[in-house]
Amino acid sequence: FPGGKVRLNVLTLLRERFRRAVPEGVDPESFTRAIRESGSDKFGDYQANGCMAAAKTAGVNPRDLAAAVAQRVDLAPLANPPEVAGPGFLNITLTTPFLAETLKHRLVSGRLLDDCPGTPQTIIVDFSSPNVAKPMHVGHLRSTVIGDALARIFEALGHKVWRDNHLGDWGAQFGMILWGYRHLRDPIAYAKNPVRELARLYRKVNDLSKPAEELGEKLDKVLKMLDEGRRDEAARLVLKLFDGRETPTPEEVAKLSKRIASRLRVLQEKVAHARAVTEATRRETAKLHAGDPENRRLWNEFMPHCLRALEAVYRRLDIRFDTQLGESFFDPMLADVVADLQAKGLAVESEGALAVFNEGANAPFLIRKRDGAYNYATTDLATIKHRVETYHPDRVLYVVDHRQSDHFKQLFATARRWGYDTVDLVHVSFGTILGRDGRPYKTRAGDVVGLESLLDEAVAQARKVVEENSPDLKPAEKAKVARIVGLGAVKYADLSQNRTSDYKFDLDKMTAMNGNTATYLQYAYARNRSIFRKGGVDPAKFAKKAGSIELIFNHPAERGLAVKLVRYPEAVELAAAELKPNILTDYLFQLATTYSSFFEECPVLKAESDERRDSRLALCELTARTLKAGLGLLGIGTAERL
Ligand code: ARG
Repeated sequence: FPGGKVRLNVLTLLRERFRRAVPEGVDPESFTRAIRESGSDKFGDYQANGCMAAAKTAGVNPRDLAAAVAQRVDLAPLANPPEVAGPGFLNITLTTPFLAETLKHRLVSGRLLDDCPGTPQTIIVDFSSPNVAKPMHVGHLRSTVIGDALARIFEALGHKVWRDNHLGDWGAQFGMILWGYRHLRDPIAYAKNPVRELARLYRKVNDLSKPAEELGEKLDKVLKMLDEGRRDEAARLVLKLFDGRETPTPEEVAKLSKRIASRLRVLQEKVAHARAVTEATRRETAKLHAGDPENRRLWNEFMPHCLRALEAVYRRLDIRFDTQLGESFFDPMLADVVADLQAKGLAVESEGALAVFNEGANAPFLIRKRDGAYNYATTDLATIKHRVETYHPDRVLYVVDHRQSDHFKQLFATARRWGYDTVDLVHVSFGTILGRDGRPYKTRAGDVVGLESLLDEAVAQARKVVEENSPDLKPAEKAKVARIVGLGAVKYADLSQNRTSDYKFDLDKMTAMNGNTATYLQYAYARNRSIFRKGGVDPAKFAKKAGSIELIFNHPAERGLAVKLVRYPEAVELAAAELKPNILTDYLFQLATTYSSFFEECPVLKAESDERRDSRLALCELTARTLKAGLGLLGIGTAERL
């Protein structure tokens, strides 16, 4: 290892060599950025593709430029001198001694990643952040799983990560629950399982108040027509809006027109009731916020139950937080935040409300409603102030679904103008989870699926897979493996998607033994471990003496696996840089398939000689470690036997 300090990211090493070697007139940054993994073995292990663009800018021949760079760059001992190919590509092939030394170092040192490439940062990850006292559903899964993976990845790269669950514990759902608790509670059910009863009350009150908006709007249209004396038109509209009759017969219209008043009375009563409920729940929320002792007491009674239920889900998913500062925590700060924004001239009155007008935004950013209430935006502004003053973060990642992108654009713009312009605020947005029918995931009952039952289902599905493949395991072992496989499947399915796209939730596919699934990777790992068991080799002891093993890459499959293994740090660093865990899942999947071709073509325990056997065992051991570590960064476990 030239230069003493060991760097495990080979791509970075190559880039440094090229950065020093590019001739004058070529931008070293864009040139080095264009060095990447080759698309095919034919073009070496890496390719430098920057000559074409640089030659165009400089007005020279790209092949000549490529030849000049090849001449100047010194890649020894990492790689052979680059070869000029095609219109001006540079193909780079790693040397066997370098591959061997790099892999051996990893085995002996036990380290797979570099110590903080670049400057260590303090990064707050705002993730999961469900609204409590509503049933947690599958939509919350994405934020939880993606946020956790990003936190683990940044931590592994040596950054200081602060995990914050920004709980929605102060919103309108509490007004609904408070009202429901007073009017509709089943005391026995509440005593037995408070969280389930609160969730039931939430749904019930939601059903009661929903018509206020939906029906209310339609009804207002009809009433307006009646006011204007357009009776027949009003009847036609009723038939269309409430009965779904687009082209009623003239008789139908005439009939309804005569008795329209009584028909509307029924609807009016329904809407009036819904409006009354909505209004009553709104008052309960306002009372809670204003400090009403009874509502505060109930809130304090509900919260521990809600938190305990969440805790159970997090424990199951192996998710932890450093803080769970819910929206309620920031409530006492909101008045000052608003006063400050007003004093600085950022917030101005607008139709009785207080708003910030940001350039390029198509709506004002409301921070105080007409009735004096603060909102989600006010809380998020207070949160930024608190986070910056308390943790001095370099970055804050908000792992929240794409529907909130306008909110975050406005929030970040406001924060910058407010003076928080050095912290990097990022909305890590993601798409929707869909059912097999391509619509947002729901059960047959039409409910959004409860997260808990979904996890139960995944584990049950995994249990079937385990029963089929490993009938010999003891029942307790099977249950443990089923948990690892089931929860891993759910997490991996989510993480392996490009996070900005929607994806279909399909348990059968998630736990398939073949394809890009956690199950496939976990099986690759377990089969790998069985080689060591069969050969009576202790992996830890073996790795310790790996320094004296000669790694031999005679078979292309051996070399192919070695090169894949070398790339692990590149995949992790790229996943971090792009905030995309699917870069890591793609890498792990490629590693597992490369390993499986190696395994098919190169006998390990029955290798031709002891030297070859040891060399292959070393590749196996490093593969196992890389798979386990990589899955670990995604919050996914492995089992020694599956
Ligand atoms: N509680 C919000 C919701 O469920 C998400 C909060 C995200 N974090 C934030 N700082 N706004 O929609």
